[in-house]
Amino acid sequence: MNEKKTLMKMTGISKSFPGVKALEHVNLSAYAGEVMALLGENGAGKSTLMKILSGVYTKDTGKIEILGEEVAINNIKESEALGITIIHQELSVIPNLTVAENIFLGNEKVNKITGIINKKVERERAILFLNQVGCKIDPDVLVSEISIGDMQMVEIAKALAKNTSVIIMDEPTTALTDVETQKLFEVIKSLKTRNFAVIYISHRMEEIFKICDRITVLRDGKFVSECEVKDIDYDKLITMMVGRKIQDQFPYKKIEPGETVLEVKNLSCDNRVQDISFQVKAGEILGVSGLMGSGRTELAKTIFGEYKKSNGEIYVDGTEVKINCIKDAIDNGICYLPEDRKREGMVLGLSVRENMTLANIKTYENKFKSIDRKSEMKDVDEYIKKLSIKTPSTKQIIRNLSGGNQQKVIIAKWLLLAPKVLIIDEPTRGIDVGAKKEIYELLNELKAMGKAMIMISSDLSEILGISDRILVMHEGHLAGELTRENANQESIMKLAVGINN
Ligand SMILES: Nc1ncnc2c1ncn2[C@@H]1O[C@H](COP(=O)(O)OP(=O)(O)OP(=O)(O)O)[C@@H](O)[C@H]1O
Ligand SMILES: [Mg+2]
Repeated sequence: MNEKKTLMKMTGISKSFPGVKALEHVNLSAYAGEVMALLGENGAGKSTLMKILSGVYTKDTGKIEILGEEVAINNIKESEALGITIIHQELSVIPNLTVAENIFLGNEKVNKITGIINKKVERERAILFLNQVGCKIDPDVLVSEISIGDMQMVEIAKALAKNTSVIIMDEPTTALTDVETQKLFEVIKSLKTRNFAVIYISHRMEEIFKICDRITVLRDGKFVSECEVKDIDYDKLITMMVGRKIQDQFPYKKIEPGETVLEVKNLSCDNRVQDISFQVKAGEILGVSGLMGSGRTELAKTIFGEYKKSNGEIYVDGTEVKINCIKDAIDNGICYLPEDRKREGMVLGLSVRENMTLANIKTYENKFKSIDRKSEMKDVDEYIKKLSIKTPSTKQIIRNLSGGNQQKVIIAKWLLLAPKVLIIDEPTRGIDVGAKKEIYELLNELKAMGKAMIMISSDLSEILGISDRILVMHEGHLAGELTRENANQESIMKLAVGINN
């Protein structure tokens, strides 16, 4: 391979937080016209390294060079001035500004004489940059009215408007539909041909082989290796990331199912969910598949009382239950682990322990009505170990955990509650390969305890790997049901896109 131009080079970067050595002598380079994947388990230090490069954090030691020259990056402005742009996982577009206003935010086109923002120039330039990312939206609409996929395109257009050379994408595809992901990949390819350097973080290994040229692997805050994608395979990559081989990624366990625990009859919620009927038995994992927007999450939220049903009945253990709000659902033994755990699942300012036991703190009350801290801590410690949650202590504020480790705490919270019926939405989104398997093992434990589970997932191999039965949704309807034996990628996809035979 011919030598690529090194646009950016970080060497020997170290960074500590109280009680945590997040990075220790890490190296990372970005080359013109290439996509560099930055990989590692949850808490390995990927986001921290990118926050240093983009000026959110300052490094303790190490060197950053741009085009061979050492630079100082003390804040976001300095980083941007050097041609570095980061697109955070939580997109930073402002919903109540227009698309054009977002693209030129902090970089406004001001008329030099009047000092007034030249809206007309901004609109025209916005269209130009949107065209470059193949996005046809109107620059005058409010960002709150466009899809997440388009918001991402606005972020990239914003980067292009800033004279960027290095674009960092931190888990960009987690909230995108398949079609939006394909579109993003096309844009990344065109950025490559225009000699931008892209740094790409993802836990979806298939994406790495699809669009990345090189990888840099971190483990426990340390640099493991940099190599070309063509020189590695899936197994080698996993071993580099995790430090061991992972066998049997989907540890399926068959259990003879018990009685029906949850039954839903003709459930509808306006036009989002229409006339859905199914049952889940004790000791069963019912997978729910379907394209994004097919009504899977809406179905879950209707059962959970977050959305008001417009028709239908819900039965628990054979008795009809009235669910008008979330509390009704919880009182009837139904819990829902939301897909958007950042927004809906956790309290950012509370500790790991508090977040984990908040929902079931009453179960730790002793006969004097005070909390038995010892048994609470026993559970918290057990789940930190079981899910290998990376935290310096149970007292750490959850905001300071890495994205994936925050997810694990929230998953532990619902697993600890061990309700009769557990609905889990995208259980392993943002979770590294090793920890995914640990989550499946925990689901198997709950299965053995006779819990009834509904697992919504966009990851087909996960649906096929651990479900006992599979429902497929299409445009708010139930498109079909498949047994574990009859299900494969093709049979699911056919139903998901609305092909009936
Ligand atoms: N502001 C902070 N205060 C304290 N510790 C922090 C802070 N930010 C990150 N950490 C710690 O630094 C380590 C690296 O975190 P980082 O977010 O970089 O991981 P990551 O590789 O991005 O993981 P993920 O895949 O889960 O997003 C973790 O142990 C995390 O808890
Ligand atoms: Mg991260």
